[in-house]
Amino acid sequence: MPLNVLATARLTLRRLTLDDAAFILELVNDPAWLRYIGDRGVRDLASARAYLQRAPLASYEKFGFGMYLVALKADGSATGICGLIQRDTLPDVDIGFAFLRRYWGQGYAVESATAALAEGKEKFGLRRVVAITSPDNDASIRVLAKLGFGFEKMIRVTEDAAETKLFARAL
Ligand SMILES: CC(C)(COP(=O)(O)OP(=O)(O)OC[C@H]1O[C@@H](n2cnc3c(N)ncnc32)[C@H](O)[C@@H]1OP(=O)(O)O)[C@@H](O)C(=O)NCCC(=O)NCCS
Repeated sequence: MPLNVLATARLTLRRLTLDDAAFILELVNDPAWLRYIGDRGVRDLASARAYLQRAPLASYEKFGFGMYLVALKADGSATGICGLIQRDTLPDVDIGFAFLRRYWGQGYAVESATAALAEGKEKFGLRRVVAITSPDNDASIRVLAKLGFGFEKMIRVTEDAAETKLFARAL
């Protein structure tokens, strides 16, 4: 059994492994990921494994949390990723989510993020979580509103980055 399995009514959340490279390759090359999150330079299974190693796997090692794979309880299908991130560029832990397009609009982002936030509070003692989105990412902003996040301000995560909206929620 992989570490850190969380369950909701319809979903399971578990740590990503290098065996999830094919799924990650598809997810990070979806046009919505490229537009709203960015190009991670993942073009094949080898670069997907390298990305898994330097991003989620490194986060589990360092913080105990990170982006999890979200799968359907019904048949085990991988639908997307959701979880908590401690970036070098933000003082607070932030929540992230991204799903394959065929799974959008079924409440999976809200359902999985609710479980990730509960773990953040109960297991990691977090009292405040933030989120950053492109100003025009309506789907993500709607998910954050449903999760109880409020808009705080516009920020740039680095000096030369585009402006993003910063949302926050007390846990
Ligand atoms: C953002 C994203 C994760 C939402 O996932 P999802 O599983 O479709 O979200 P949910 O089904 O939980 O939807 C939550 C609410 O958002 C609404 N919503 C979904 N897509 C929307 C859109 N394009 N515009 C406006 N509202 C939208 C839903 O209708 C729902 O509200 P409702 O219950 O009142 O109808 C998904 O669109 C995605 O993966 N986008 C690409 C990656 C991304 O942008 N991630 C966020 C980076 S900050």
